[in-house]
Formats: sequence, structure tokens, C-alpha cells
Amino acid sequence: MTEATFIPKSYKNTLDHGSVSFKAPSNIALVKYWGKYGEQLPKNASISFTLSNCFTKTQLSFQKKEIQEFDFEVYLDGKREEGFEPKILKFFERVEVYLPFLKTYSFKIETSNSFPHSSGIASSASGMSALACCLVEMEKRMSKNLSTALEETKQKASFLARLGSGSACRSIEGDLIVWGAHEHIEGSSNLFGIKYPYVVHDNFKNYQDTILLVDKGEKQVSSTVGHNLMHEHPFAAQRFKQANDNLSKLIPILENGRLSEFIKIVEQEALSLHAMMLTSEPGFILMKPNTLEIINRIWTFRKETNSNVCFTLDAGANVHVLYPEGEKVSVLNFIKTELKPFCKNGEFIVDMTGSGAVPL
Ligand code: DP6
Repeated sequence: MTEATFIPKSYKNTLDHGSVSFKAPSNIALVKYWGKYGEQLPKNASISFTLSNCFTKTQLSFQKKEIQEFDFEVYLDGKREEGFEPKILKFFERVEVYLPFLKTYSFKIETSNSFPHSSGIASSASGMSALACCLVEMEKRMSKNLSTALEETKQKASFLARLGSGSACRSIEGDLIVWGAHEHIEGSSNLFGIKYPYVVHDNFKNYQDTILLVDKGEKQVSSTVGHNLMHEHPFAAQRFKQANDNLSKLIPILENGRLSEFIKIVEQEALSLHAMMLTSEPGFILMKPNTLEIINRIWTFRKETNSNVCFTLDAGANVHVLYPEGEKVSVLNFIKTELKPFCKNGEFIVDMTGSGAVPL
């Protein structure tokens, strides 16, 4: 399959005005995407859990117009947010060839997140996923074939979301999504995310993710800058190989449910991601002292109690604490008593795996 698959031939219906709304979740990568090429193509395959409680709701209102220019306004929680508009403009420019109607409408994009904007949780994955879903729904209403197969719709939404933000293509469906062509994963593609196609052990059902908000500030390094630093990175080739190898190793683990092996890979991925940032030119330290405190306490707790709790990290200081549903009571208790003091204002978000974007 190539990009050309996503270029529509013609539309049957014209929409004069209307609106579409979607709710789309965030996701947390187990094997990380860090390094890209071409137009938003990943240097290695990645896999993530789709989340449930961290999501973006977006309403896209549209009005047909004459002037053939992009025309849109973005609102966050009811207030105009011009700061988001350059990113959306770039997104519209990238996807126009796949959505040729874009310049013939005035759009109002009204969005809100379930998590505070300043929480340090990236809203780009859920936000771009929600917007892509709205646009695909709009296109569907214009199409000859109103009953466009659900599979095709989801694939196009993921394809478009990727052009807005790479990891967003993993936020259309749940609960375990692979993005990036991988030799051992049938159907995997650099162009869009797919549902993990093999057997998954019950140990991973409703997997828990409690997000500890260690640092709620603006990102120190944007993901675009971070990904670009991988171009000249001395360890880049090794890192891309490590990620693809880790994904290969996860296949039997996801089937047999061996949590101790799962933990080794997930934590190595988080530390390796940060190692890339530490050793790039210039280097970045995105962990905070409290991030390290939390990691050490998770390790001690695991050793002392035989728990299967582990951590992963995004490109920031917050810690995602991952654990099986069966350990919910004990791990939440541990978080409240031992880890909460290391969170900014004691804040954390209790989340778990979820099933993807839905229309509202
Ligand atoms: C560390 O998807 O935010 O979260 O494609 O430039 O928008 P862009 O990058 P982005 O990068 C996410 C990186 C990560 C790892 C991951 O989610 O796989």
C-alpha cells in the first residue's frame, strides 16, 4: 500500500455546513518511536497501549465558502488559541492532497482535554487523532459510498493523524497498537497504526497506567527537535535496531503473559529513550530528581513485594506507572503512600488501557 491509496477520486455529495465531533484518547508507547524520516515516517516500529481517561474531545464545524485558502480558528476550552494554529496549518498543508475539500470550507475547531493542558501530558496524540477522525467522518458524508468500510475509515484516520503527529496514528483504535513496518508483524506499516494482530494474554487486559505528574511545565524540548537530533546521533542505528528487536521479543511475551520479561523490555525502552536525549548534541536531561526518586522506589517496592509494577517515560519528567489489573489495590496504595509526595501538588492521573476514538 502506498500514500496514493489515500487520495480520493471524487465526492458525490456537497456539504453546505454542519459539524462532527470525536473523542480520541492518548496512548503510551511500550516500544518507543524516536527518530523519523521523510514525511512523518518512523525509523523503527513502535507499540503502545491506548489509554482511556486521558482524551481530547473535538468538534469540527464547517461552512462552505468561495475563497480557496485555508480558513480555520482553533478554540481550547471555549477560548481562541492562536498558539495552536501554526501546527494545524502545517497539518492542513500536509493532508490537503488526501482531503482536497479542505480549502473550500471555513472551519471552527473546538477542543478540550480531559487532563489539564499544563500537565505535561502531550495532547498532540489525542488532539491530532480526534481532528483526523472528524475530517474522515466529514469526507465519508461527502463520499459516493456512504457505507465506506469501517476498516478503511480507521486506516485513513490513522494515516492522517500520523501526518499531524507521529504517535497520534496509534490513538485511533485500542488497546494495543503497532506503528511502523516490522518484519514479524503482519500488516504493519510505516503509513498508519494497526491493531496488534496476535494473541494477547489476559495479564495484559485492562492494564493500568497511573501517570505521576512530576513536572507540569512546558516541554523543554519539542518532539520535532528531539526526533531531528536522531539524524546525527552516534547511536542512532543501534537504537533503531534495539527498538525493532524489543518488539520482536514482545511477541511471545504478550502471548505467554510473562510479566517479568515484559517489565525488562518496557523499562529498557524508557531508559533508552532518555539515553538518546542525554547523548545527543546538544544533550537534554528531561528527568527531574523526583523522576529518579520514583524509579528507585518502584524498583525497591518490586524487589520487596514481588509486584509486577514497572515504569515507562515519555519525552519528559512524568512517570507512567504500569501494572496488571489484579494488582490495582496494592499498587495504588503504594503510589498514594510512597510516590505521591514526589508529584507536583501531589497530582496523578489513574488511567488504564482503552478501546480508541469514538464519535460524539
Ligand atoms: C517519546 O509523536 O510527539 O512519545 O511526530 O514529531 O509529533 P511528532 O512526535 P511525537 O513523538 C512521540 C515520542 C514519544 C515516544 C512514542 O510515543 O512512541
